[in-house]
Amino acid sequence: MLSASTIFREIFNSDEAFQLFCSIAASGEGQGGWENARIAALVPGSQADLAPKIARHGADEDKHGRIFKALLDKRGLQPVEVPADTDYTMRLEQAGIGLAHSRLRGGQELTEGDIITYLAHSRVTEQRASDQMRALCKYAGDWPDIARAVKVISADEDNHLAYCHEELLRLAAAGHARTIERTLRDTAVAEIAIYRDVSMAVMAHLGQILAWPRWKATVLAAGIDAAYSVDRLGRWRRMVSLKMPTRCNALGGRAHVHHSPEREAVTGAGPVPRRP
Ligand SMILES: [Fe+2]
Ligand SMILES: [Fe+2]
Repeated sequence: MLSASTIFREIFNSDEAFQLFCSIAASGEGQGGWENARIAALVPGSQADLAPKIARHGADEDKHGRIFKALLDKRGLQPVEVPADTDYTMRLEQAGIGLAHSRLRGGQELTEGDIITYLAHSRVTEQRASDQMRALCKYAGDWPDIARAVKVISADEDNHLAYCHEELLRLAAAGHARTIERTLRDTAVAEIAIYRDVSMAVMAHLGQILAWPRWKATVLAAGIDAAYSVDRLGRWRRMVSLKMPTRCNALGGRAHVHHSPEREAVTGAGPVPRRP
């Protein structure tokens, strides 16, 4: 039987597949951390209250990158180079979604419009991250280290998503509703296509490592395409709706400072990082 749980079982059971899987995840999280740190440094004065939350967002993503690396380390593995076709963050950036990295590398202050672009990009990509981590939590049950790690990340991604809803609703109420609606729509429509392409690429690389027969690769590719069709036919709308979260100010307050939160997340030693 070909199911998501059997695919994840194969990936988790193979050192080489697990190495690529965690390397791709760690690289994406690390890039998210860098983007958020740069955005936090360039926030315009009118949105100054956002700066610590964006910095916190970036610190969380960096932590996620370190957690995936710690999972590799625990298995005696090193991160490997991420194939360009599996690089979700770079492919979004190359498609003009979110803020250009050239802009973020510079020192020029961002505009309010840029902040909307950033938040819309995050609203969509954090939805993806939240969905993926929830799925991983479901499938990692037999691997306690992985399950513990993804539970920590999953809770963070849910908070990031809540924060995006809240801040976009605030900006919509301040007169930016139409821009936000348009930006969210453009971002989501582009994201679903890139996500499909990246999923195909990831599956192709993993299939090679795991020596999948042709029929299996074909069935999985058809599944990815079918999911994309459902997204395109309307499921993309789940990525653009805005609803005030039950828990506001999810990224308020300072990040917990642990000497080694990634080690604790993976080994379960000491307290698991939690929101205040
Ligand atoms: Fe993350
Ligand atoms: Fe996130």
